[in-house]
Amino acid sequence: MIKLGVNIDHVATIRQARRGREPDPVWAAAVCELAGADIITVHLREDRRHINDRDLRLLRRTVGTKLNLEMADTAEIVGIALEVRPEQVTLVPEKREEVTTEGGLDVRGNLESLSAAAEKFRQAGILVSYFIDPDFDQLAAAREAGADFVELHTGAYANASGEAAVERELEQLYAAAERGGELGLRINAGHGLNYLNAKRVLALFGLEELHIGHSIISRAVFTGLDSAVREMLAIISS
Ligand code: PXP
Repeated sequence: MIKLGVNIDHVATIRQARRGREPDPVWAAAVCELAGADIITVHLREDRRHINDRDLRLLRRTVGTKLNLEMADTAEIVGIALEVRPEQVTLVPEKREEVTTEGGLDVRGNLESLSAAAEKFRQAGILVSYFIDPDFDQLAAAREAGADFVELHTGAYANASGEAAVERELEQLYAAAERGGELGLRINAGHGLNYLNAKRVLALFGLEELHIGHSIISRAVFTGLDSAVREMLAIISS
């Protein structure tokens, strides 16, 4: 069974629009878990634009499924992650000016620093995932840098227009998942997935977890979060 990780950052984005108390991402996590989500994902960004330290620490105490922390490889955030101890960290690139995570992590170009961070996480019993483009060299680098998982970036697939371009992106994802499996990596996928395009990603070889945020929170505005999570779960399990 493929697992669903719900990214609840955008619940905090709405809260931060007024810098108040609601809606509380801690409540959102509880609703997602009650609806059947397997994983709760948050991204503690360096600028704390949505999820903040209070959220992460409370979520650590309340999430009973699996807490997956998306994070940049910086001394501050690595230190917080080691203290809070989520079950899994997903290392992502981070640029202050971006609206969301734009490209995959350059594991090859940051091999030394990522390997050092991964070793600390390994010693703390925290699973390490690298968010990468479906690229063979990045897969090999992820293996070298101590990854348990890679999360394959599905953004190019999600943004592709026209069936030929969609097919091309899917083929790259399928090939990368197989290559990752050969290298002994566990496979997750995410970014830009929604109620229409998630289905075709389910065929990725060995896929364990899908990480989906914006489309679920967007649908929740109209249907409620419980229903939005259940509808995505129905697609994943069909
Ligand atoms: N996976 C990773 C590594 C991400 O950075 C994000 C966005 O925070 C997601 C998945 C979820 O992407 P989306 O919000 O487009 O579903």
